[in-house]
Amino acid sequence: MTQSPGQGQALDNLLTESRTFPPSDEFAAQANAKPELYEEAKADREAFWAKQAERLHWDTKWTQVLDWSDAPFAKWFVGGKLNVAYNCVDRHVESGHGEQVAIHWEGEPGDSRAITYAELQREVSKAANALASLGIGAEDRVAIYMPMIPEAIFAMLACARLGAMHSVVFGGFSAEALRTRIEDSECKLVITTDGQYRRGNPAPLKPAVDEAVAGAPSVEKVLVVKRTNTEVAWTDKEVWWHELVDSQSDQHTPEAFDSEHPLFILYTSGTTGKPKGILHTSGGYLTQASYTHYNVFDLKPDTDVYWCTADIGWVTGHSYIVYGPLSNRVTQVVYEGTPNTPHEGRHWEIVQKYGVSIYYTAPTLIRTFMKWGADIPAKYDLSSLRVLGSVGEPINPEAWIWYRENVGGGKAPIVDTWWQTETGAIMISPLPGVVSTKPGSAQRPLPGIGAKVVNDEGVEVPHGGGGYLVLDEPWPSMLRGIWGDEERYKETYWSRFAEQGFYFAGDGAKYDDDGDIWLLGRVDDVMNVSGHRISTTEVESALVSHPTVAEAAVVGASDATTGQGIVAFVILRGGAGDEAGGAEAIKALRDHVAKEIGPIAKPRQIMVVPELPKTRSGKIMRRLLRDVAENRAVGDVTTLADSSVMDLISAGLQSGK
Ligand code: WTA
Repeated sequence: MTQSPGQGQALDNLLTESRTFPPSDEFAAQANAKPELYEEAKADREAFWAKQAERLHWDTKWTQVLDWSDAPFAKWFVGGKLNVAYNCVDRHVESGHGEQVAIHWEGEPGDSRAITYAELQREVSKAANALASLGIGAEDRVAIYMPMIPEAIFAMLACARLGAMHSVVFGGFSAEALRTRIEDSECKLVITTDGQYRRGNPAPLKPAVDEAVAGAPSVEKVLVVKRTNTEVAWTDKEVWWHELVDSQSDQHTPEAFDSEHPLFILYTSGTTGKPKGILHTSGGYLTQASYTHYNVFDLKPDTDVYWCTADIGWVTGHSYIVYGPLSNRVTQVVYEGTPNTPHEGRHWEIVQKYGVSIYYTAPTLIRTFMKWGADIPAKYDLSSLRVLGSVGEPINPEAWIWYRENVGGGKAPIVDTWWQTETGAIMISPLPGVVSTKPGSAQRPLPGIGAKVVNDEGVEVPHGGGGYLVLDEPWPSMLRGIWGDEERYKETYWSRFAEQGFYFAGDGAKYDDDGDIWLLGRVDDVMNVSGHRISTTEVESALVSHPTVAEAAVVGASDATTGQGIVAFVILRGGAGDEAGGAEAIKALRDHVAKEIGPIAKPRQIMVVPELPKTRSGKIMRRLLRDVAENRAVGDVTTLADSSVMDLISAGLQSGK
């Protein structure tokens, strides 16, 4: 099951890059981060984190920074009490910044809205009162299935304010994916919209909720925001947002919750078909989200305009649109739509319109911009940009350099930030103004974070060596578990290097000669498609749930735009008939996967094969299928139960069968 780290030719190319870009004196002089941070953290890690926690308002101060006595279950800032929403909203109004714009929201069809902190406070208070009127209280679970509209952020903060846990489900996921997530955490309420704008057209969203809720008895109410004026089905469970929320009082007193009070669940793909509900709590999470956002993006709350292009359905949207930025009193852009609606310069038009100074996006989008051409950003005034970020997958040096030249004016530092849903916040990244950046490398753990590259035995590899990325110290925003499954939490993250007590991240990594870290992609059966984690098993289960499919094997093959593309090998059922292998039938299979999981999981390619390569113990050898998918000579087949299988597959593919 485990690939050797460092696999994949495209990734090997990464390692030949040796340019570095030192910070300018001008940038360094004004940077939030100072070189001393590293020494400070090293001298006393807990004291360092305690100092970072002081960034927040605590109603009751903690008595202990870290309790790791029940490892791997951590408690941070033990005994402390705070309200996360108060920290992101009210305290900025109280400190005299009520008139500062918190969110410049830009709708896809061109509508826009500027929301000040005072207004955000009123909206979140109204939403909290509304949720309370629906019976939502501390520790209840609320599913949020919405496009990128302000109400999605109000809803998240309203949950936080009440101590309820949100479970945001990406609006591109299918009804079935939504249902399993609602069911796993027994959500009482679903917040959604009638529809969403996608590539210039309104598309319905609510029917997916109807389908999901029909199979999820825990749901008592469905709160619906009107966004596209699309007609929707209505039962006695539904309530309109504008009817319920707008009539509420805009006053709400936040309650202080324990530092370890649960904040949210966010589902992510693991190596099995069942998504994992990653659990995050309050004090430690907000501390690290806030600290990293301030230092990694060099945020100046009075002058910067920040824009993170993620969707709130992913962890990047949680930590770097909602909690980190708002805790730091950001002024930020939130954009509803796709980057090429109505034209391929939409992002740059928005940067110019708002004077965006910090821009955080994913390599897959940068490579798409490259494909569209450098003449497009060149048409806009991007001179306001001063820090650029990247997240979600390794960024290839060509894309990094293109980003720097064509978006960053040849001078904005690029922060390549490595982290995961599980880590809650950025773990590995250069600090702008302190570290000389290197195209393609996330470089070094942030002050306060312990990360290492180790070999199979858990021994750190020398400079120049490769192996597995591990985290060797607990960190404040670490996941506190997998919802409802303690064993899976221990097994997935803490069993691989149990003896050493390391957290196993599931990524391959390498040190260069300077000791900087280069991420090399997943070492498990998780694919990374456009920065989204999708497990091979999840797609395989979707395929075999189709009546024509007997067996399926899925691999992630390298893809110039999306990082990896999903390639499926299927064996059809005996009675499926010849037409089952035809173009129409293949399309039907791709659509079936989209329906089961969501369009992001649609295989790029489906190949019908007579057999699958298996070991004597029956394990599918994905390595060999990846060779086929990437058009390489097939590797060592000696461990196959039947070594002629690969010939059969190749012969069938060549003859077009
Ligand atoms: C990958 C996204 C290389 C990695 C925040 C990780 C990266 C997974 C980077 C987590 C990066 C994320 N360089 N790889 N800068 N950032 N990854 O949970 O494989 O959606 O394990 O969190 O994305 O994906 P997730």
